[in-house]
Amino acid sequence: MVSIVVVGSASMDLVVTANSRPKAGETLIGESFQTVPGGKGANQAVAAARLGADVSMIGRVGEDTFGEEIIDNLKGNGVSVDYVETVPQTASGTAHITLAEGDNSIIVVKGANDEVSPSYLEKAVSILKKADMIMVQQEIPEETIEYIAGFCKQFNKRWLLNPAPARRISNEVIESATFLTPNEHEFAIMFGEEDRSKVLVRFPNKLLITEGKNGVRYFNGINEEIVPAYTVEPVDTTGAGDTFNAAFAVAVAEGKQIAEALRFANRAASISITKFGAQGGMPTREEVEGSI
Ligand code: RIB
Repeated sequence: MVSIVVVGSASMDLVVTANSRPKAGETLIGESFQTVPGGKGANQAVAAARLGADVSMIGRVGEDTFGEEIIDNLKGNGVSVDYVETVPQTASGTAHITLAEGDNSIIVVKGANDEVSPSYLEKAVSILKKADMIMVQQEIPEETIEYIAGFCKQFNKRWLLNPAPARRISNEVIESATFLTPNEHEFAIMFGEEDRSKVLVRFPNKLLITEGKNGVRYFNGINEEIVPAYTVEPVDTTGAGDTFNAAFAVAVAEGKQIAEALRFANRAASISITKFGAQGGMPTREEVEGSI
């Protein structure tokens, strides 16, 4: 069993479904409201655990009922929470999600996720050293990601940065990461006006650009390739990227080649969008393998 350590956010998703989105100054009547566990870090941890990895989460929650529910949910999915601490007098992270017109829009309030600091990570160095793959996203402080970049370089650890939500990233972080998985929007923020194909050539088998229904684009050292996505009828696309990242990380940690790992990840992501909630449709290993 491969060991995955996720350093990231663990939040509660507050999800409204509606027929359309309100314009500025407009009030609309929605269809439904639900709270479900989310946060890109916790989502990736749950997805990796369902796929059979040994997963530890390094994160923080607030001193509130959301925090308790987030921890219970991680435990219930078999994720180790030894390094998920409660921050006193602080609210848990929340994501305010509108599902309308076949897509989501999200505002994240970081809350306790902003306390996943480099000094907090110092406590978890022993499990970071044992990981086959470390996974990081960008709902935690930038200096923590820089700490991971330095740590992984020093100890020769493999790590995947899912640069979401988008922001500019230092060259040191880009160089240190084993895998970078921006979507097209995140790619544009990371690399500006640079020609996509030229950037891909600079990062063979490392830069994996997710293009939604189109699939995943990367340079394999010889050719620019697209590994196509699977077509399904979507119910809720929230968490598809997290499922993709986790499945890819598990597959490469297990020794799969990049192209095969991308096919596995695309399949897992396609299954994940057939149910409501970021984690609602995340598949088990059997579900992914039974459908390829
Ligand atoms: O990637 C999906 C996640 O992003 C949601 O679960 C929400 O928490 C936001 O952070």
